Amino acid sequence: MNNISSIIKLKDITYFYPGSTKKVLDHLDLEINPGDRIGMMAPNGSGKTTLLHTIMGLCKPASGTIAIFGKVLTQERDFLPVRSKIGLLFQDSDDQLFCPTVLDDVAFGPLNLGFSQKDAGDIARNTLEKLGILSFEHSITHRLSGGQKRLVALAAVLAMAPEVLLLDEPTAGLDNTVKNTLIHILNGLDISYFVISHEFDFVKAVTDKIYSMENGRILTDNDIHIHRHEHVHKYGKQPHSHK
Ligand SMILES: Nc1ncnc2c1ncn2[C@@H]1O[C@H](COP(=O)(O)OP(=O)(O)OP(=O)(O)O)[C@@H](O)[C@H]1O
Ligand SMILES: [Mg+2]
Repeated sequence: MNNISSIIKLKDITYFYPGSTKKVLDHLDLEINPGDRIGMMAPNGSGKTTLLHTIMGLCKPASGTIAIFGKVLTQERDFLPVRSKIGLLFQDSDDQLFCPTVLDDVAFGPLNLGFSQKDAGDIARNTLEKLGILSFEHSITHRLSGGQKRLVALAAVLAMAPEVLLLDEPTAGLDNTVKNTLIHILNGLDISYFVISHEFDFVKAVTDKIYSMENGRILTDNDIHIHRHEHVHKYGKQPHSHK
């Protein structure tokens, strides 16, 4: 883990939520390099979402360094310019979507990047079309179903043309047809991504390596080998790891 051209490099990160003494991230190291397509499968509460929020500067670590695109970021003003280049899909779509209509939500990012109203609208419509949801264009976002909102949130992220994607359970609530569309889209992207999911088949289809988390630290392919097979112990039917 020592690459000066890393897109994202976390070193020795420790994080506690305010008022808590539990180290959610404990001297954690992580590198995301150009070309990386990394999956993350780990139990509920292991700190996956906290990890993504730390990369974005939304959780401020007690110790350690965060370097993004080669620059060490410490204060809020350091994170501002990089946030628009990192596409974070929030675990909860309602944290991502706040405009009245779907088109407004998806055009919001491009407008913020300085595109004209017309160009931002065109980018938004193209992105919706790629995801097969152009028909939602004029829908009221908060009246959509959970799975539909998931797709709109993803469209809002992709419309920003980010340089790296951090996806927090993108398939939650998606049916198999839409999941296959997402697999096709991710496999067609030429940017690095880090995708959290509890769905082994999905992760296997879109990534080249699968990490996990335990006790606030990342376990890489070298530490574990996550796989699916069935046998007698109680986790036999779930994807799991052996130490
Ligand atoms: N806002 C918060 N304040 C205090 N503790 C929190 C907060 N958010 C999360 N935690 C705690 O931090 C730990 C890690 O939570 P996190 O949401 O990062 O886990 P996760 O791996 O994403 O889980 P899941 O698979 O359920 O999404 C949990 O013990 C959780 O209770
Ligand atoms: Mg989470």
